[in-house]
Amino acid sequence: MAELDPATLMKKQVGEAAAALVQSGTIVGLGTGSTAAFMIQALGDRLKSGDLKEIQGITTSFQGEVLARECGIPLTTLDVVNYIDLAIDGADEVDPNLNLIKGGGAAHFQEKLVEAYAKRFVVIVDSSKLVDKLNLNFLLPVEVVPKALHPVTKAIEKMGAKVTLRMGVKKAGPVVTDQGNLILDVKFPHGIEDPAELEKTLNNIPGVLENGLFVNMADLVLVGSVIDGQPTVREIKR
Ligand code: 5RP
Repeated sequence: MAELDPATLMKKQVGEAAAALVQSGTIVGLGTGSTAAFMIQALGDRLKSGDLKEIQGITTSFQGEVLARECGIPLTTLDVVNYIDLAIDGADEVDPNLNLIKGGGAAHFQEKLVEAYAKRFVVIVDSSKLVDKLNLNFLLPVEVVPKALHPVTKAIEKMGAKVTLRMGVKKAGPVVTDQGNLILDVKFPHGIEDPAELEKTLNNIPGVLENGLFVNMADLVLVGSVIDGQPTVREIKR
């Protein structure tokens, strides 16, 4: 196998470390993104080797569903079960209080749904995702019902933010989410002062389905770093 670059190596390392936390017979929330993909692959490997038995996954995106099926992970849904033992997912930014920005892959609606019902939520990131304050670098994604695009854009601009409609790559026009909605990427000029308040305020705008602030949800963050050429994983607990 080709040698992995350090960033990819960190993602693989934390993905595998998180997959090692999963116990047989449990229901697992499966996140979205490149780091979560390593975790899903590692779970598939554990199932194939017989080290792990009888888990059921609940995916958070079309991407995750396709990968989980490829990896042989049996799937269920929140229509069938009413709890999740452990959810594992990546993040775009993590602040010192373990509040997150998510939605780099436009999957934050399903991610928040699944992670909110999990008894334990473990976040997997490489060290570049740790920040002092949210939204200084990464834009905050807000999922909007298409009919409400104009009024929601105006309402968020009135709050002092710069708002950009996320455009597709190799697709003409905007990104369309797994729910058939659009994504506004939002930048507050001085970052986000009060994530808890902003999360509620944005979700109260009619036409907003969900925003990418995950406040007081993460129980544990596994952080991958490369130190002296060696990939290492450290824990930050709530
Ligand atoms: C998708 C997400 C991802 O978890 C987040 O964007 C991190 O992705 P990656 O692990 O590829 O950096 O929130 O909506």
